[in-house]
Amino acid sequence: MSDLPTQLVDRYGRKVTYVRMSITDRCDFRCVYCMDEEMTFMPREKLLTLEEIVFLLRAFCELGVEKVRITGGEPLVRRNVDWLFKQLGELKATTALKELTLTTNGSQLPRYAEALAEAGVDRINISLDSLDADKFKALTRTGELQQVLDGIEAAKQAGFKRIKLNAVIMKGRNENEIVDLAEFAINNGMDISYIEEMPLGHVDHDRGESYCSSDEVLEALQGHFSLQPSIATTGGPSRYYQVADSQNRIGFISPHSHNFCSSCNRVRVTTEGRLLLCLGQEHSMDLRDVIRRYPGDMDKLKQAIVKSMDIKPEGHDFNIEAKPVIFRHMSVTGG
Ligand code: 5AD
Ligand code: SF4
Repeated sequence: MSDLPTQLVDRYGRKVTYVRMSITDRCDFRCVYCMDEEMTFMPREKLLTLEEIVFLLRAFCELGVEKVRITGGEPLVRRNVDWLFKQLGELKATTALKELTLTTNGSQLPRYAEALAEAGVDRINISLDSLDADKFKALTRTGELQQVLDGIEAAKQAGFKRIKLNAVIMKGRNENEIVDLAEFAINNGMDISYIEEMPLGHVDHDRGESYCSSDEVLEALQGHFSLQPSIATTGGPSRYYQVADSQNRIGFISPHSHNFCSSCNRVRVTTEGRLLLCLGQEHSMDLRDVIRRYPGDMDKLKQAIVKSMDIKPEGHDFNIEAKPVIFRHMSVTGG
């Protein structure tokens, strides 16, 4: 009945084919770069229900979105999350969706890895910032290293082939583990990406002091590995290097030092169903309002999504010294 497109294209001609969806702002960890020690989480009625999340993601995938990443918070602490993944896996048969992925801290993977593999999850990113149990605890405040190592093992056992580690490197915390983390990844057949700390939400430390640039991380690695720049691109803020004599890659996610906005193919949806057109800007559209005002009306929702393409900004401008830039924590936005 309507003239809805099969592709989402913004004013700058960028095709939007990738949605990152945060399904909870809660987490069993309290990583220092991500959260305050004391956090107030969203009241439950504000969260999209799992049914609403499926409805929303189906709309996107029918509008040409090929890749969905489920994030948080920690997505696997959400109740009945296995049901959600099963529903999303089924979208691959009926929509443009090709790749269903998950970002997790790994703590719940011993419980869920098999169900995720069965549901059709293609790839998992696991956050791991330290291999030293004490430092791991200091960084995550409430996390246990062993739990995450068990989670990584569970994912391998469940048959996940393309596991990627994510490490946020902070000066004075874990910068002396840059090489160890890469060695751990490579020895276990995994890729690893180093992430620059982003000024999202208020935290207890001075981000200007802890900030470690990708160039510094790369320099530390080049002393130990032979790295070849890779032409592979994810349409995102990552640059990759192939590690000589290995199948694995080392990536750098550098929102500060390398501008990637011109090839941006992604949007984010927050826990409360706010569509964010750019991680570093406040431009957004309240999709929960559309879903709740017109329950079950797929065309209304799609029209709102299509319209939102007109407010996707050209780019962002992070500045680690001037804080806080964006008041949302990463756990609301999705990593
Ligand atoms: N800066 C950079 N990375 C962050 N993450 C969470 N908060 C921040 C931040 N402020 C990371 C997590 C995880 C991914 C989802 O995002 O470590 O790897
Ligand atoms: Fe939880 Fe990830 Fe934030 Fe750490 S970075 S507190 S694991 S959501």
